[in-house]
Amino acid sequence: MDLVYLDPPFNSKATYNVLFKEQDGEDSPAQITAFDDFWHWDSEAVRTYHDVVSHGPRKVADLLGALHSFLGPNDMMAYVTMMAARLVELYRVLKPTVSIYLHCDPTASHYLKLVMDGVFGPKQFVNEIIWQRSTAHNMRTKGFVRVNDVILLCSKSESAVLNAQYTDYGPEQMKRYRVDDEGRLYKAENLTFSTANPSRQFEWRGSKPSPHRSWGASLEQLEEWYAEGRILLKRDGTPRLDGLKVYLDEMRGTPVTTNWTDIQRIGNTSAERLGYPTQKPEALLERIINASSNEGDLVLDPFCGCGTTVSVAERLHRKWIGIDVTHLAISLMNNRLKDTFGADLSPYEIIGLPGDLGGARALAEENRYQFEYWALGLVDARPARDRKKGADQGIDGVISFFDDDTNKPKRVIIQVKSGNVGASVVRDLKGVLDREKAQIGCLITLNESTKPMRTEAAEAGMYAPPNPQEPVPRLQILTIEELLAGKQLEYPSYAPATFKRAPRQTKAKKKSE
Ligand SMILES: C[S@@+](CC[C@H](N)C(=O)[O-])C[C@H]1O[C@@H](n2cnc3c(N)ncnc32)[C@H](O)[C@@H]1O
Repeated sequence: MDLVYLDPPFNSKATYNVLFKEQDGEDSPAQITAFDDFWHWDSEAVRTYHDVVSHGPRKVADLLGALHSFLGPNDMMAYVTMMAARLVELYRVLKPTVSIYLHCDPTASHYLKLVMDGVFGPKQFVNEIIWQRSTAHNMRTKGFVRVNDVILLCSKSESAVLNAQYTDYGPEQMKRYRVDDEGRLYKAENLTFSTANPSRQFEWRGSKPSPHRSWGASLEQLEEWYAEGRILLKRDGTPRLDGLKVYLDEMRGTPVTTNWTDIQRIGNTSAERLGYPTQKPEALLERIINASSNEGDLVLDPFCGCGTTVSVAERLHRKWIGIDVTHLAISLMNNRLKDTFGADLSPYEIIGLPGDLGGARALAEENRYQFEYWALGLVDARPARDRKKGADQGIDGVISFFDDDTNKPKRVIIQVKSGNVGASVVRDLKGVLDREKAQIGCLITLNESTKPMRTEAAEAGMYAPPNPQEPVPRLQILTIEELLAGKQLEYPSYAPATFKRAPRQTKAKKKSE
């Protein structure tokens, strides 16, 4: 592993909702809970705290004990404890050249910085990056308007990769440039420094620094520049003291500082926006990946959400590992990679998805909602509602499709059932189709469908899209076993993606080519 970027859910007590875009561009009222704020001082947090304090490195143990006395047993303590446990493990397994970026909120960054110092040692701390993600807004706030996140960077050793990054010059800096006879943009830089160094105060080709200044380069260097035509001359043919020609095409730009003000958060209308509210901009990950890894290196994102890090890593020819706890994020990421890179996508494996009926049953028993997200992902459907807020309207997922030139989306409504079901469920789904004026219905069942269920579905008839497309059954029952064996939901063919599609991108040209 060469680079780790961690973007855990903040300790903000917020519930993060996914707001999906309808195909026609309207905001969908359908929100589903992607993930709650996970960090609570519950039995798991207490167990982790005891574990780190009893078995972790002494400094981290002492620090956590002190923080516990200071913060008390609350959600912030849970968050700090969970991050401490992860950082300790990362430190243990990662190679010496690794860089770690921890993306957090100013409400927690000071505690996390202490934890990073405890785990990596204060000398390994590299930077506190302030990412200004938006400009001032008129939100009521008890202090100044907060527009930044904090990204803490540390490395396991001095040998971590750190490639300097540059930004383009702004309009103010460009004002200094002129065009020379060959059409190249150049600016004039001072040839002298503001210190009086007697060995550098010689007369050169008729020019001499003022008494309090000295030449900024040796005589040999000045002669070399002169021979290259890089010295601007006065009318009398003597060198100008501010006459070093510096060409724009030889400059790399302005070095990036720890204040990142040039990367905007993803706006509502951004093409990048996939509907995941904590989605980070690709430009942010591009800077981090370019700065702290090289082509072929391995990048890890243990909280990868809708996959910004893995997508940028793929584009920049890095190897990658992304981890997320929700099946929703996995589905989004999977679609994002396929939409973005198509045939150029490197082969990858998704670990931890149910691969057979037994696995699907285990997931359903463990967490019915995660089972639903996973099952909906099998047919590329998007979840349809907020699990916490909405009463069950008989719709678990939706696929939008187009089958004519009106640009009016049609819908497949999906229900997922992990328990026993009978013909009445199919009948009810038909009722939902009529109520919602949806074109096609699909029942995904964990258990086998029965003959009465299939008869009931057949009685719903066919949906006939405009010619020349083939009619498809209006009500389809698909078992998990059939889906795992490759059976597909049938609906008119030129359906656009259900999650908002990631725009197609070509990978960066390989530096090594
Ligand atoms: C702030 S979001 C990351 C967003 C991501 N950087 C992106 O650009 O889409 C945090 C993610 O952490 C995931 N998560 C929360 N707890 C987790 C855990 N214990 N293990 C792995 N992922 C977790 C959430 O599901 C969520 O997707």
